[in-house]
Parts: sequence; structure tokens; C-alpha cells
Amino acid sequence: MADNKAKLTIAETSVDLDVLSPTLGSKVIDIRTLGSKGYYTYDPGFTSTASCESKITFIDGNNGILLHRGFPIGQLATESTYLEVCYILLYGEAPTQEQYDKFKTTVTRHTMIHEQITRLFNGFRRDSHPMAVLCGVTGALAAFYHDALDVSNPVHRDITAYRLLSKMPTVAAMCYKYSIGQPFVYPRNDLSYAGNFLHMMFATPCEEYVVNPVLERAMDRIFILHADHEQNASTSTVRTAGSSGANPFACIAAGIASLWGPAHGGANEACLRMLEEIKTVEHIPEFIKRAKDKNDSFRLMGFGHRVYKNYDPRATVMRETCHEVLKELNLNDSLLEVAMELERIALNDPYFIEKKLYPNVDFYSGIILKALGIPSNMFTVIFAIARTIGWIAHWNEMHEDGLKIARPRQLYTGYDERDFKSEIKKK
Ligand code: SDX
Repeated sequence: MADNKAKLTIAETSVDLDVLSPTLGSKVIDIRTLGSKGYYTYDPGFTSTASCESKITFIDGNNGILLHRGFPIGQLATESTYLEVCYILLYGEAPTQEQYDKFKTTVTRHTMIHEQITRLFNGFRRDSHPMAVLCGVTGALAAFYHDALDVSNPVHRDITAYRLLSKMPTVAAMCYKYSIGQPFVYPRNDLSYAGNFLHMMFATPCEEYVVNPVLERAMDRIFILHADHEQNASTSTVRTAGSSGANPFACIAAGIASLWGPAHGGANEACLRMLEEIKTVEHIPEFIKRAKDKNDSFRLMGFGHRVYKNYDPRATVMRETCHEVLKELNLNDSLLEVAMELERIALNDPYFIEKKLYPNVDFYSGIILKALGIPSNMFTVIFAIARTIGWIAHWNEMHEDGLKIARPRQLYTGYDERDFKSEIKKK
């Protein structure tokens, strides 16, 4: 794909580098040969670095565009289902009815987990954060599923993909049930992916749980909107962990750990806490002031994005879904009022305009999830369920493209070589 050259001149040395052209988006300078010439690039946080080639998702941050295998997120969110989007992300094309039915049946039939895993939960305190439990139990799946671990074998990778996609909602719902002291609810094969998750979250042995189709659709749409987002922090973590050939369940556990951070997937929980702290519209100016204060670490949760310097297209769909859910439940959430006013003020404030800080996917999701009856400490768990397919698709693509262990270099600014003299009296 090299269609022109770049010349890097450092002192007397000149290095010719290929410039590679994408299908969409920015050209990239291929610096792979630089290391052999004794030079490295320096880019903490990878703000200007393409870590891999990928065909899965494309984001145009300036124009607020998000494509999954070329399909716009707005169309997928309104016309598709999460499982159909999973198929598209994993296999690259929209499924035929026959392919979809087979995929759905396979996912449905893998939703149960090994019964022994239920005992793992007893090792956690009841007040553990559900993300801590999800991370631990997902990693522990590596101790239970040994029969398809040849990561170089595409058939094994497919089996692992099904297991993770199918079991993540079951484990996630168990994290919730464990935290509230209710019995685990087994998955049901007659329910949809989203409906089954709501059932496992809210059913009890004492009465039938009837899935509300509007809430089921909202849940499915939230899963779609969080399914994948190219090389974000958690996906890059899964790629890095997987680049050593590591166990896939352990790699996904690493992705969960990275997603948990408030700058990433933990922002939805942090955003709701922020809205609750703001409480009323009258308090907004004080928080906007704090968000602009360089000496205050406070940031407007749910605002800003490394790539989107325009509206996050997912936030647009999330906003519509938010209104649908509140209308269906006849809820008048004062937090939505605060959120709408905060959005209006921020979008007209020079600070946010100059820094191109727009609401992101996490800004509205918390309000919807709260309306669905999901506690805020489960918000990032929901994000992890949805993002599991993105992590798997990228992990799979990395293996398909040929594994190369991730091993970045550094800018060393420590001591020069010096002699060691111990002050410690050796016993
Ligand atoms: C997700 O990568 C992905 O694709 C992630 C994600 C996905 O689907 O995987 O989209 C999901 O993680 C969405 C983002 C959720 N995080 C939040 O909502 C937390 C709040 N946002 C910020 O922490 C921040 O915007 C980041 C982390 C999201 C992006 O930070 P960057 O790109 O590293 O930008 P930056 O921190 O360098 O900020 C640039 C400037 C700074 O000011 P200056 O130093 O230039 O003066 O903008 C300011 C920041 O202080 N700024 C904010 C702000 N976000 C950035 N100021 C106030 N409030 C904010 N939210």
C-alpha cells in the first residue's frame, strides 16, 4: 500500500520511509526500519502512532464517523441486533439468515458456565466492586476451558470466541447477584441475548421476570454502541497481552482491567456520580469552572475523547435511547435534566469549543442504565459485556495477521552507569 515516501533527516543521516495509504483516514509513515538505524520515535499514550493494521472499525474523529466493517454505527444501532453486529465484527460481512441462526443458536447454547466456577465467587467479599470480580472470574475461565487453546488454530479461536461472547453476560449477572446476596439465575435459551442478561440480572426464584421489550431493545442497543472502537486502551491491552500467545481468557481479563479506569470505560459510572454530585442545574457553573481549572484534577466525566473532536456518534444514539427509556418507564429523571443543561452549557463554552470537548458514549449511558434498574457499580461491567466482541475480533485479527510480540522501546533518562556500594550490613 506504499504509494509515496517520507525522508527523515537527522544530522548527517537521511532515512527514506514508506508512506502507507489506508482505505479511509490518515496515511501512516512506516517506521519499522528506523530501529535498525538506531532511532526510535517517542509517543507516550500513542497519540500519533498506529499500532497495527486493522479492517474491523474505522473512526473519523473530526467528522464524528464510526464504521464497523464499513457499516455506519447509526444504521447498525437502529436496524441491527447486537448478535448480528458481533457476527459482522468477527467475520467481516453481514450474515445470511442461515448464518445468523446458526451463530445465535451456538451462542445461546454456550451461555452456561462450568458449575464449579460458581464456588469461585465465595472467595470475594460481598462488597467487592463487580469489575474486580468480573476481572478475577474471567481470568479464572482460563483454568476451566483447556480443550481449545491452540491460539494458532482458527477453529480453536472460534470456539473461544463463542465461549467468551456467550458466557460474559452470565458471569456479569452473577457478579451483580453475588453483590446483593441473591441466588444466581441460570441463562434461558428461549430469550434474546439482551433479554437473557436482564433476566439473569433481575429474576428471582420467587417470581417470574417478564422482559420488557422496550428495555430489552435499549439494552441491546447499548451493547451495540459499546461493541468496538478500534485501538482504544482496553483493546490495545488485549492485543498486547495476546501478542505473546497468552491464554485468550487471561487476555480478555487484562482488557477488563484496562476498561475499568475512569478515563476509559469507568467514565459511565464516574459520569453518573458526577451528575449526582452536581444534583441541580444551579450547581452546573461551579463544576464547569472546576473542569477548566488547571489546578483542579476534576474533569467533566463523559466529555472529551482522544479521537472524537466532534460529537461521538454513539452519544447521539444514546441520547435518543435515553428519552425512549424514560418515556417508556414514565420516569422524570432530574439527572437527565442536569445532563441536558450541562451539555447545552458545555457545547457553548469557549473552553470546551476550543479543546473540542464533546459528550462521548459514556455521557448518557449512565442515565439509561440507572433507569433500567442497574446500579452504577455495574455500568462498566455492562460496557465490558458489550466490548468483549471487539476485544475478541481484534485478538483474532492479530493472530490471523501473524503474531509479533509487542515490545516498545523507551526514552531512558535515568542514571548513567555507576558502581554499586552497599550500605547494608549483611547478616
Ligand atoms: C471511552 O479510546 C476510545 O475509543 C475510548 C472509548 C471506547 O469506546 O473505547 O470511546 C470509551 O473511554 C470514552 C472516554 C471516556 N472518558 C471520559 O469521559 C473521562 C473524561 N474525559 C477525559 O479524561 C479525556 O477527554 C480523555 C481521557 C477521554 C481523552 O483525553 P486525551 O485525548 O488524552 O486528551 P487530554 O487529556 O490531553 O485533554 C486535552 C485537553 C487538556 O487540557 P490542556 O492540557 O490542553 O489545557 O482537554 C482537557 C485537558 O485538561 N480535557 C478536559 C476533559 N477532557 C480533556 N477538560 C475538562 N473535562 C474533560 N472531560
